[in-house]
Amino acid sequence: MEQTHCHIVVLISGAGTNLQALIDASQSSGYKISAVISNRPEVFGLQRAKQDNIHTLTIDHKSFASRDKFDQALGNAIEEINPDLIVLAGFMRILGVDFVNRFEGRILNIHPSLLPNYPGTNTHQRAIDAGDKEHGVSVHFVTADLDGGPVIAQESVPILKDDTAEALAARVLEKEHIVYPKVVSWFASGRLHMKAGKVILDHEELPDTGVNVHFQ
Ligand code: GRF
Repeated sequence: MEQTHCHIVVLISGAGTNLQALIDASQSSGYKISAVISNRPEVFGLQRAKQDNIHTLTIDHKSFASRDKFDQALGNAIEEINPDLIVLAGFMRILGVDFVNRFEGRILNIHPSLLPNYPGTNTHQRAIDAGDKEHGVSVHFVTADLDGGPVIAQESVPILKDDTAEALAARVLEKEHIVYPKVVSWFASGRLHMKAGKVILDHEELPDTGVNVHFQ
């Protein structure tokens, strides 16, 4: 009998390197990617999904009169698929409170900073400009608070002398590709959920910075 899979939908907007990491890990991580949805047509992440025979959908945000209308169409498409988990992977749209409330507790996001530091964009250059010694990645549940949902896991990298934003981003991206599949596998195996705005892993409430991903 086929192992019962946790079905996930991955939302992308671009290259999809995190999607690729999730695809590569899916065989051994207890989840199945049921569909990949992009808000932008023709992005390479859609090719990655097609190469793995994963159903793809493009819901182009430019085709909608408002953010709310886009969020409604996206939410309806996701409800049709009825996944256990929605994984934002390089997804560059801000999702409104109505969308989040529809799926709260079942949406993960990966953000290239050690939250709560540097929510928003251009995080690598901001960390360099601030003279920080380290930077990194956070995986968190999505709430209506942009990049502000409870953190599940973090992994840090050093900021090296004369680092450029590109070099630092590449170093962080390597960590992203390790962290994200691991966190998704925790959810798939029932070890991870959100309760009253807090992260619960193995029945324990996590601190605000989550766990370091080496935690098994
Ligand atoms: C990554 O840095 C991710 O943290 C951010 O979008 C960037 C591109 O992700 N959310 P991907 O290569 O499209 O997965």
